[in-house]
Amino acid sequence: MDPAKRASADARSDVRDDARRDASSDTRLEDQVKDWLRYGEDLGLGPYYRDRAPLHANVEAAAAPVESQGIVTSSNTRSAATPAAIPANVPAAMAAAAPGRAPGSPINVATSSASQKVATAAAIKTPPAAPASTILPAAAAPSLFEAIDRIAGDTLPRIREDIGDCTRCKLHKGRTNIVFGVGNPKAELVFVGEGPGHDEDLKGEPFVGRAGKLLTQMIEAMGLRREDVYIANVVKCRPPENRLPEKDEISTCSPFLMRQLDVIKPKVICCLGSCSSQTLLQTTQGISKFRGEWFDFRGAKLIATYHPAYLLRNPPAKSEVWKDLQKVMAVLGLQPKKR
Ligand code: URA
Repeated sequence: MDPAKRASADARSDVRDDARRDASSDTRLEDQVKDWLRYGEDLGLGPYYRDRAPLHANVEAAAAPVESQGIVTSSNTRSAATPAAIPANVPAAMAAAAPGRAPGSPINVATSSASQKVATAAAIKTPPAAPASTILPAAAAPSLFEAIDRIAGDTLPRIREDIGDCTRCKLHKGRTNIVFGVGNPKAELVFVGEGPGHDEDLKGEPFVGRAGKLLTQMIEAMGLRREDVYIANVVKCRPPENRLPEKDEISTCSPFLMRQLDVIKPKVICCLGSCSSQTLLQTTQGISKFRGEWFDFRGAKLIATYHPAYLLRNPPAKSEVWKDLQKVMAVLGLQPKKR
């Protein structure tokens, strides 16, 4: 080939290569940013990311307890994405999901549960008062959900039927399957997540991906099987790119969750992460402010803990979650799984 033509063809090919490289680094960057946003959300810092300027005061309030609990600080946030050591008191089943560490031994729940039972009875709170509204409306008394009437004779199949082939919100456009919920319809314990991810969307079942496997391990560490509990989400269709469910999507879909909870009538509701806890408690406070505390929710005891997806990114937080799960076990009279 004529050297001038070759040089020009090489230049064009370089430009194409550069464009491809740029595109793939853009995608990587975008993925990293999305990861960070979800991570911030797990820490209750969603408002900070969504609307920085007017929320200055909230951010400081939300960040302080997080730092004081040693979960994440401004100096360790970057390394938090890298799996770190798991505290020794986390049961083997939960610890196993994190690489590179021998599982720890379960703590003596028999000893701790008696005192927790006493503490539990005394410690049920009303939902935390919210700061200025950011994600969801601040709690009014009684909360919106307390005020909703129970539907006489309601059943899970009827709720599923009412959802139908739902097009009530924009999430329907990207879904493969509606992820209604799964488990024991008479469960004493219900776990509530945020919304389906990729694997859940394909299978039509909540918590079946990596975070789901960890949730199953958590359930088993509590001495239960997955089929003993009920698992549901705030929204039933997968948000695109696993983004957080938006306010309108939550307000459209969450009444179905309320009906599910009313029908199941669990003793304990365990909210996984900010989205479900803020939705059910009608608060905008960061989860780190109220996780591990008991609340009353339409006659059930409600406790919030960190989302398993957050634990995958931050294994040291497993010890906090295990403490929360032990409180649940004390209320339900459960013994940890024998190793
Ligand atoms: N995360 C959730 O909150 N729910 C699921 O079903 C899966 C992952």
